[in-house]
Amino acid sequence: MAENDYIQQLFADRIGGAEFGLKEEIYKFEKIKRAKRAAVKKNPNVRLIDLGVGEPDEMAARSVVEKLAEEAGKKENRFYADNGIAEFNHAAASYMKEVFGVSGLNPETEINHVIGSKTALAMLPAAFINPGDVTLMPAPCYPVLATHTKYFGGEIIDLPLLEENGFLPDLDSLSAEVLGKAKLLYLNYPNNPTGAVANREFFEKTVRFAKKNRLIVVHDAAYAALVFDGEKPLSFLSVPGAKEVGIELHSLSKSFNMTGWRIGFIAGNEKLVKAFATVKDNNDSGQFMAIQKAAAFALSHPEITQQTAEKYARRHEMLAQTLSECGFDAVKPKGSFFLYTKAPIGVKDGPGFTSAEEFSQFLILEHLISTVPWDETGHYVRFSVTFEADGIEEEKQIMEEVKARLSRTDFIF
Ligand SMILES: Cc1ncc(COP(=O)(O)O)c(C=O)c1O
Repeated sequence: MAENDYIQQLFADRIGGAEFGLKEEIYKFEKIKRAKRAAVKKNPNVRLIDLGVGEPDEMAARSVVEKLAEEAGKKENRFYADNGIAEFNHAAASYMKEVFGVSGLNPETEINHVIGSKTALAMLPAAFINPGDVTLMPAPCYPVLATHTKYFGGEIIDLPLLEENGFLPDLDSLSAEVLGKAKLLYLNYPNNPTGAVANREFFEKTVRFAKKNRLIVVHDAAYAALVFDGEKPLSFLSVPGAKEVGIELHSLSKSFNMTGWRIGFIAGNEKLVKAFATVKDNNDSGQFMAIQKAAAFALSHPEITQQTAEKYARRHEMLAQTLSECGFDAVKPKGSFFLYTKAPIGVKDGPGFTSAEEFSQFLILEHLISTVPWDETGHYVRFSVTFEADGIEEEKQIMEEVKARLSRTDFIF
């Protein structure tokens, strides 16, 4: 044993150094998992209703799966794909035009495939962050760009997303000192976890702000095509001047029910795309060409996303109504599969909740309903409409069951 102990001294500081793995820190998602296990063990005959899932409940469209099967069987698709194949880049350029009205993207120089937007966000800091540089991150938000900024010795400055501002960051709140050190500004609309959408004016302001402060805008558009109720898919790149200041990340994970396939693309400023591609080329050897070809096929069928968006819109309608009837201030979002709402502060003649996490644990343990809590900026829970249900009737049954369970408790808001 003793001669192996030196391993503990060799971990890099960025993952905790010599302390790595020694502290029993339990993170949010692990706490949720543990609570779910405990609740199911205690109530084996009650169905756990999982409204916490962050990915689609359905598989990819049959036609896309068939295209993959066909391409997977072709000998010419077996090679390393390096920075991607032209067929995918061209499909991505056409998709940007058709769905978002963004024309003129050069498929060769302004688009590059990515093995999921998560890995792209993980790689971007390698291209831009030197020690001491700042990345501006909304709070709450998807954290990957922040984690890797810190790995490279950079710093994170939070931009709180407040309900009274429509969950858009207040760019004017930043000091000159912070702006002097800032290089990257991360945005994500429709937003995870708030479900908020951005508008053209906000993106126009962002372009002016980025130019004035010499910032690179990274717009994470993972949910961009999943909008409803008259909302049109909005790309940051559709705003004049955006290509001078930023890039946008698109993913087929959510819009085409392809989370496990690991495919998406980066688009925008040529120099930024080139810097990213240089880092990527030193990290991976590209996604399997058969997957790229099936993804190109999917991108040329945006009606697949529209059908999914309609389903989410229907479910959101039911969920917002159910939650409202149970006392929550729940509003149907205009995009994404997330409904974000204030957590109650306690139960009448019962426990109080000092955080959304406490409420979320209560909901799992007492009612076998799983959600994801967010305590960064206020206390909110994220409900997701990606629960497993086969058709409208089952969706209705689940909502009735949610209502019956929640109604058993008198929550205080
Ligand atoms: C905001 C946001 N960005 C990126 C991702 C990662 O997506 P991908 O599957 O493309 O890596 C997610 C996934 O949950 C997300 O919510």
